Amino acid sequence: MPYLSPALNVMVAAARKAGRPLIRDFGELEHLQISLKGPADFVSNADQRTERILIEELQRTRPGYSIFAEETGLHEGPDKTHRFIIDPIDGTTNFLHGVPIFAISIGLEREGQLQSAVVFNPISDEMYVAERGHGAYLNDKRLRVAARKTLSETLIATGIPFMGRGTDEEREQSLAEVKAIVSRTSGIRRCGSAALDLASVAAGRFDAFWERGLNAWDMAGGILLVREAGGVVTNVDGTPDPMKNGDVLAANEALHPQLLKLLKEAGNPARS
Ligand code: IPD
Ligand code: CA
Ligand code: CA
Repeated sequence: MPYLSPALNVMVAAARKAGRPLIRDFGELEHLQISLKGPADFVSNADQRTERILIEELQRTRPGYSIFAEETGLHEGPDKTHRFIIDPIDGTTNFLHGVPIFAISIGLEREGQLQSAVVFNPISDEMYVAERGHGAYLNDKRLRVAARKTLSETLIATGIPFMGRGTDEEREQSLAEVKAIVSRTSGIRRCGSAALDLASVAAGRFDAFWERGLNAWDMAGGILLVREAGGVVTNVDGTPDPMKNGDVLAANEALHPQLLKLLKEAGNPARS
């Protein structure tokens, strides 16, 4: 059974509560696909409602903590040591297209350090949790990153900047990296939810994940999951804090340096 600190309990309850209406919405989406404007508005409403429920629940049970959320920004609380970081729906494009790969992600920082994490896919009912020093779990199962050490046997996840995200230069950089990695591994997956990509590294489904240009809310929950599953998470240049510039590389200890090297060779000086 996972170890749930009181705060992690609150986060799990908030994610479950916000997840219930999302399951209903997802079921209704197929009826909306016929109208062009309909689904986009519907998804944006679902996004905002999910964030509202999460904030209400977290503020009710932890009134002093600050909250940093994708849709509504920073809600400062009197307690300066704790901060929730929320992505109400990570994988919105999937949600919009009826692809069941999206998640609610909540990270909790204590004095700037990730302490507790929840990544919840309400459609598959997969609840990933982690508590610093107590391991990572998927539902009741303890997680461990994959043990593969040989690049040619690995399956690697990534994210590629799409229309409206990133510059042409960044897209080129991303494609150069994909080329370098795809020619040395068993393949690449681009699933559309950074939070679930990281959770899948924690679960040993993917051997590694890298993406540039993310925001703190995309990865706060997932980073702790990977670390608590025994993996290494850094910036793509190897520096320790991916939430500082949004570039992230997660893998097991043996693969991490090999991937760092490959990404460097792909001609990608890290952004500052
Ligand atoms: C996005 C997803 C996607 C990643 C994007 C993110 P959103 O988050 O995590 O996988 O490639 O960079 O912005 O917009 O669905 O919350
Ligand atoms: Ca996101
Ligand atoms: Ca989002």
